[in-house]
Order: sequence, then structure tokens, then C-alpha cells
Amino acid sequence: MTLKALRVLFKDKLSAIYPPSEIESIFQILAKYKLEFDGATLILEGKKEVNASDLDFFQKSLERLQKNEPIQYIIGESYFYELLFKVNSSVLIPRPETEELVQWIITDVKDHFLNKKIQILDIGTGSGCIAISLAKNLPNAEVWALDISDEALDIAKENAVINKVSIHFLQADILQLKKLPQTYDIIVSNPPYIRQAEKKQMHHNVLEFEPDKALYVQDDNPLLFYKKITELALKYLTKNGSLYFEINQYLGEETVQLLKSFGLAKRELRKDLLGNDRMLRGGSL
Ligand SMILES: C[S@@+](CC[C@H](N)C(=O)[O-])C[C@H]1O[C@@H](n2cnc3c(N)ncnc32)[C@H](O)[C@@H]1O
Repeated sequence: MTLKALRVLFKDKLSAIYPPSEIESIFQILAKYKLEFDGATLILEGKKEVNASDLDFFQKSLERLQKNEPIQYIIGESYFYELLFKVNSSVLIPRPETEELVQWIITDVKDHFLNKKIQILDIGTGSGCIAISLAKNLPNAEVWALDISDEALDIAKENAVINKVSIHFLQADILQLKKLPQTYDIIVSNPPYIRQAEKKQMHHNVLEFEPDKALYVQDDNPLLFYKKITELALKYLTKNGSLYFEINQYLGEETVQLLKSFGLAKRELRKDLLGNDRMLRGGSL
């Protein structure tokens, strides 16, 4: 089969699940991963016959895509903040809106802590995307990363090696934790925040493949992680420190009020590029 025919096959078989532009982008990701072809080469080499082993890879990937498996789990990698991360079904696939939170922190640190040694803690690190991209871009930061899941921490540790940064990893259940190891200038978290009631709006590939533990909270207590982390932050943030959260877009005001009720100063709610309430900062900055 030629590359062009394979591309047509993908369009044909996936059109019920994905829009045409996404099918094209998925095909390009697979071609780059397996054949090291970019988009232009793919078109130029359209008449090329795909060898048996590559064809097998594309066909197996197609079967997995038809079952709604995300492309990132199929190839086992994803990009975040221009860095490569290994991913598997134990970790959430890093999202673009989380990059915006990382960008906010990097800008703040450069503005307020330039050349000062600082301590950062990422709670619920998953693939390690927040902790690792902060460590990579902030040479003055010592970074800690915590997760309840040993499997997620294994991936995060591999990602720290791949990206050549040193991180202190901790396994703990944040909801049970009474103390943190030390104080921090920045505490950041993208904790589970999706209510069961919101599951209806989610795409099958999130519902069936991404880890429940990373995503969901009970409808009657959706802010439990935010409460617990804010309580800890009040004790363990340094005088000039700040707390950063990724938040549930439908609970922006409630989350701001929560921080206010704990007496956390200077709360700032920000929208993501799609215009949804997505990030919150509280504390000294
Ligand atoms: C929404 S994911 C965020 C992952 C990653 N930081 C990101 O932004 O892509 C939440 C993470 O919190 C972790 N988590 C869930 N419950 C936890 C708990 N009780 N204590 C610590 N971490 C927890 C999950 O394992 C998951 O990795």
C-alpha cells in the first residue's frame, strides 16, 4: 500500500470519530514518529510503498484510534511547553491550558525572583509536565513534585531524566498529608477537578483511557483538593510566596471565594486562550 492510500484509509475509517483536520494531524504525528517524515515529505513521498513492518504499525494504530484511544498513548509521548514527555495510561496527557499556567509562573518568577534561589512544589505532578518545564526554564528554582500514584511517579522520573532536570519526587496522598517537607516560594497544582455530572460532556477518549484518579471528584465536594492545598499553603508558603492553581472553568468564582475564605491575599483569576476561567493565583504576588 502507498502512503497516499494509507492516508485515505485513515480519513475513511476515522471520519466518524474525528474532524478531517484532526485526522490529518494524527496521521502526520504517526508518520513523524514512525517514518520521521514531516508534512511536506508526506505529500512528496505519497507514491512510496509502505514496508510491511511500518504498515503493521499504522494498521494497529488505526485499530486503537477507532477504539478512541488517544494518539499520545499510542505513540507513548506528548509535547508540553516544547519539551518531550513520555506518557502512558497512568498519567494525564498534558494539556495546552496547563502550559498557560506554567507560562504565568515563569513570567512571575522572572519578574519577582530573578537570580534568587527559590523552592517550588508541584502537587499532583502526573507526567511531571509542570514541575519539569518549570525546572527546565527556571535555573534558580529547586523543584519538588508530589503524586499519590507510584505509576505516575515512575513516568515523571523518566521524564525528568529525558529532559535532564533534577526534581525531588514524593509519593503521598495530599488529602491525608498533615505536613510538607519544608516551605516553598511557589506551590502549584492542577488537581483532579471534574465533577461526575460533567462526564457527559467529555469525549470518549478521555472517559475510557485517561486515569480516573487524575480527573474526577465527587459532585458534592468538587473543591476538596483546593481546600486541602490552600490550608497547607497557608502554613508552608514563604512570606513572598504564591499559590497557583489550574481550576475547573465552571467553578472560577467558587474557587476564588474559597481562597478568600482562607484569607489568601491578592487573588487573581485568569482565563485561558479559549476564554474559560482556568487559572488562579493567590498569595503575595
Ligand atoms: C489533573 S492530573 C494533573 C497531572 C499533571 N500535573 C498535569 O497537569 O498534566 C492530577 C494528578 O493528581 C494526582 N492525584 C490524585 N489524587 C491525589 C492525591 N490524593 N494526592 C496526591 N496526588 C493525587 C493524580 O495521580 C494526577 O497525576
